[in-house]
Amino acid sequence: MSTQIQASARDIDGPLLELEDVTTHFKTPRGVVRAVDGVSFSLDRGKALGIVGESGSGKTILSRSIMGLLPPRGTIRGGSIKFEGREIGNLDRKAMRSVWGKEMAMIFQDPMTSLNPVMKIGRQIAEPLQIHLGMTKQNALATAERLLQDVRIPEAKRRLEQYPHEMSGGMRQRVMIAIALACGPTALFADEPTTALDVTVQAQILDLLGEQRRDRNMSLVLVTHDLGVVAGHTDEIAVMYGGKLVEKASTKGLFANMKMPYTEALLNSIPKLEDRSHTRLNAIAGRPPDLVNPPKGCRFAPRCPYAVDKCVNEEPPLIATAEDPNHLYACWYPVGSEGYHEAKVRIAASKHATDALAATSAAGGN
Ligand SMILES: Nc1ncnc2c1ncn2[C@@H]1O[C@H](COP(=O)(O)OP(=O)(O)O)[C@@H](O)[C@H]1O
Ligand code: SF4
Ligand SMILES: [Mg+2]
Repeated sequence: MSTQIQASARDIDGPLLELEDVTTHFKTPRGVVRAVDGVSFSLDRGKALGIVGESGSGKTILSRSIMGLLPPRGTIRGGSIKFEGREIGNLDRKAMRSVWGKEMAMIFQDPMTSLNPVMKIGRQIAEPLQIHLGMTKQNALATAERLLQDVRIPEAKRRLEQYPHEMSGGMRQRVMIAIALACGPTALFADEPTTALDVTVQAQILDLLGEQRRDRNMSLVLVTHDLGVVAGHTDEIAVMYGGKLVEKASTKGLFANMKMPYTEALLNSIPKLEDRSHTRLNAIAGRPPDLVNPPKGCRFAPRCPYAVDKCVNEEPPLIATAEDPNHLYACWYPVGSEGYHEAKVRIAASKHATDALAATSAAGGN
């Protein structure tokens, strides 16, 4: 069904993407913003990885660091990013041009800002094919039509002649996916690709991304603030908080045995089915950390209901669970541990005491 421009099978063994201690900091008048702060992980070929975290946790900057799409001024980069075994973390935009499109492509939340409003859809898809793959205009337009069919846009031929404003938000996002797929990337980054869309269209776009990933044997990195979005559409999940990777596991493993109280809080913040019409999240209490002066211990400590002194003073290392070497987490008192249960008992006791006090003062006030 898909166009013949497939991600070619590479003969290199090992992971597609390997990150080692990646840091991306920005110099600002207020100080250095530690947007991404020592992130390491790897991604295998053909797999779908979800990167999840609240707004401001560093998901977009991490994706842009991998893609080499960072502001040139005031950015301090560190660590290693290997793509098919080749170091790309130190390449500038010019050198990254050979990687964009054919190796890695990215789609963003708002297709309107990425599409050219005064250029017909057909030309917007065909031009990269002419430039990157050296196709003739006629071939490129025929391929553009097939790509629109691949992303399930009806009446593809007619749509080639349309401008972005003549399409719905969902259709525009499909066009963005078609553009991203045009040169047959090995990895596709989708940054909040469905956040601006209503729930039904959201599900269709996510299904489409999954279908194209499987058809093309492509890796997918799905970036979102909504743990619900990645639940059914990824093989693995990486949870970010305050610029750091705080938990990573297979999707199944994460939902069966989540370790971080922050992941648990993200899960609780997913709107219930009955609230889906009001898509507002039940936000986690408190504010994300200031990335100029992050807390010295666990960055989640000021908001974590289970925090004790050790959490405030010592940063928990990212370690594997006893049962699964691929399930990593960074927490002193993970969900289900003795310390966690003790904290739960403490919280329940103090709530009981507070309620009792409130009842006494209410009775006294009568
Ligand atoms: N160019 C920049 N200069 C300074 N700070 C930035 C810049 N871009 C992003 N940030 C900061 O980096 C942090 C991570 O941002 P981002 O990756 O966009 O978060 P997310 O995608 O998880 O919402 C935020 O605190 C944001 O304000
Ligand atoms: S280390 Fe402490 S503060 Fe951080 S998430 Fe775990 S229990 Fe909460
Ligand atoms: Mg973002």
